[in-house]
Amino acid sequence: MKVAVVTGGNKGLGFGIVRGLCKSFDGDVYLTARNESRGKAAIQTLEKEGLHPKFHHLDITDHDSIVRLRDFLQNTYQGLDVLVNNAAIAYQFNDSVAPPYPEEAREVCHVNYFCTLDTCEVLFPLLRPHARVCNVSSLNCHESFSGCSPSMQNRIKNEIHTIADVNTLISDYVKAAQNNQHVKEGFDQYPYGMSKIGVTLMSAIQQRMFDEKGADDIIVNSCDVGVGGWVATDMTGQYGVPIDKGALNPLYCALLPPNVKKPKGKFLYDKKEYDWWA
Ligand SMILES: NC(=O)c1ccc[n+]([C@@H]2O[C@H](COP(=O)([O-])OP(=O)(O)OC[C@H]3O[C@@H](n4cnc5c(N)ncnc54)[C@H](OP(=O)(O)O)[C@@H]3O)[C@@H](O)[C@H]2O)c1
Repeated sequence: MKVAVVTGGNKGLGFGIVRGLCKSFDGDVYLTARNESRGKAAIQTLEKEGLHPKFHHLDITDHDSIVRLRDFLQNTYQGLDVLVNNAAIAYQFNDSVAPPYPEEAREVCHVNYFCTLDTCEVLFPLLRPHARVCNVSSLNCHESFSGCSPSMQNRIKNEIHTIADVNTLISDYVKAAQNNQHVKEGFDQYPYGMSKIGVTLMSAIQQRMFDEKGADDIIVNSCDVGVGGWVATDMTGQYGVPIDKGALNPLYCALLPPNVKKPKGKFLYDKKEYDWWA
């Protein structure tokens, strides 16, 4: 039996992605959530629509929780076929709850980049031939790239070759943000966009690493929602297009058929490769 996992599936885009996978993916679909009651309530909503996702707890900031999911998948399915790294946080639409800037930079980069990376590192050994990984990034990676100084843009484009390089880049930004030196050091001022630069860079490197290992048709892409703007979720203060529309681009990445030659390791917008650092 094939199996798909969506992180942060209890609401918003993740919920829409789970709904879409339930309709199109030939296998079990796991809606995961950090809060069990919110996750199970979401399952009930989809059950009422005649869909049958399964639930598993997952808090991406809790390494043991990721390991528990890995062990469950290993014992139950002996592998993983689709992973959608959707879970993330942002404060820009609700400044009133945002912590002070240094903390926001640290927290947003921790959850959106470092914990997504941790989820990948724990779950990737389970990926089967033809597995698809969709790392939900954001067009804000493009905006934040544009907001970086020319020399920082050069570093991002030409000096990031490994996951360790991405870790250093994002850590350097967070470190600089602690003393309000980030703009002086050439970083953009937008924590969410900086975290998504990490996700987009990470995805391209992950694809290259699979290719170098000769992994049999495993494909990793990052993506925006790709609908020409925002999707109406709690993250955007419910401003934007409906979640099912926003889910189309991530679903495209997650459901790429076997043995396609591209897109691989790309950032996708509206089902097309998008040159995010142009
Ligand atoms: N909405 C847009 O227009 C837009 C545009 C571009 C990209 N995106 C990206 O799309 C993805 C989904 O965003 P959204 O708009 O649907 O946001 P959302 O409505 O705020 O949903 C975020 C989801 O992530 C979960 N989450 C947060 N921290 C988590 C953790 N530590 N462990 C597990 N789950 C966690 C949340 O769970 P709780 O309910 O427990 O908080 C929720 O299920 C994000 O990666 C976002 O950056 C969104």
